[in-house]
Amino acid sequence: MASHIADELAGMDVSRGELYEQNSWKPLFEKLRAEEPVHYCSDSIFGPYWSITCYDDIVSVEGQPEVFSSSWEHGGIVLFDMQDTNVQLRMFIAMDNPEHAEKRKTVAPALAPSEIQKLAAPLRKRTAELLDSLPENEAFDWTSTVSIPLTTAMIATLFDFPWEERHKLPVWSDWAAKIDIGPNPELNAEREGHVFEMAAAFKKIFDERKAAPPKGDLLSMMAHSEAMGDMDEQRFIGAIALLLVGGNDTTRNSMSGLIDFINRHPDQWKMVKADSTLATTAATETIRLQTPICHMRRTAVADVELNGKQIKKGDKLALWYNSGNRDETVFPDGDKWDVTRENSRRHLSFGYGIHRCLGARLAELQLQVLIEEMVKRNMDVKLEGAPERIPSCFTHGFHKMLVKASKS
Ligand code: HEM
Repeated sequence: MASHIADELAGMDVSRGELYEQNSWKPLFEKLRAEEPVHYCSDSIFGPYWSITCYDDIVSVEGQPEVFSSSWEHGGIVLFDMQDTNVQLRMFIAMDNPEHAEKRKTVAPALAPSEIQKLAAPLRKRTAELLDSLPENEAFDWTSTVSIPLTTAMIATLFDFPWEERHKLPVWSDWAAKIDIGPNPELNAEREGHVFEMAAAFKKIFDERKAAPPKGDLLSMMAHSEAMGDMDEQRFIGAIALLLVGGNDTTRNSMSGLIDFINRHPDQWKMVKADSTLATTAATETIRLQTPICHMRRTAVADVELNGKQIKKGDKLALWYNSGNRDETVFPDGDKWDVTRENSRRHLSFGYGIHRCLGARLAELQLQVLIEEMVKRNMDVKLEGAPERIPSCFTHGFHKMLVKASKS
């Protein structure tokens, strides 16, 4: 490798929040994929870490959970080490087998395709009503007017959470997901306050459901299960936060990402409007390109070689899904929102292997229904200026997105 390239790569830290706020991360990952797909960053606010940037290497790491651990005991699933906070979020996404498998089995039935299908009709009704209520030719924030209300309503339905209190869910979810505040003690204390408030509210409902006969919502299923009916405080907080963050921020940012892509690729949106059967691929393409969770982290529990690099026991690795989803060897013209892309569903936004997202089908359905209902209304949504992006290498999305909508 030429020495100037080596120097440039040596100092590269792709975990910096401003890269995501300014949407300037893509060329850095392109360089890493081309020059050094498994790359060591020796200094960042999260400490040293490896970047895994190509599709096959990410799949390889996720395929060896016995070597690359997800466990909170080793620091967990994000670059920020979970041991460094009082809210460690001992969720089953941050556990290895066998405990992970036991808990996953409890939650999985509530998110099975047959259950998701039951949610489809009310979801379509809610989406249609919301789209019909939008102002026309007047600027509004798509994030708070469309993405947040739709995803919050879905999560409240899944938990059978008190409907009139549902506005609290995105606030808790946003705070639980803020991992990039890292070592800032004041922000960490504020985060802990919100997370403990969330835990107390959910514990009250959980205990009520446990005392009542079982029913089909997620909380009742957990309360009556052997694996999750009697969790310690950190595990309880983790389980709730996982389902909240998992279902909220991710789907919300896909719904906002959709508008970004429609504006960048108007020819593709025209195709979807002309043929609504393209809504399915438009939904998976949106999830691929948005990559609502930029990275998951693993920790090596043994010395191991990966694509020519020596990883040491205890090293942490960031699996950059946002980069793997643009790997040209798998997705030609990878940065294009291509609503006819044949292998769009191979994307890594839902991860891979034993931890692959349990809510994938639900997320796809929500997005697909939104697209179909927009098509029915022949809707165009135009960005009014640049959207405000979140300064995070974990939650990849938008604070605010001013738009004008028109229908016919
Ligand atoms: C576009 C939306 C979504 C994206 C991009 C997403 C992404 C992810 C990712 C990256 C993982 C970790 C995969 C891995 O480590 O290999 C995950 C796991 C998980 N997701 Fe999602 N998710 C989404 C929606 C949802 C929804 C709607 C729910 C449920 C309400 C959900 C629940 C979960 C759960 C429970 C896990 C843990 C699975 C395990 O550890 O076995 N997700 N998701």
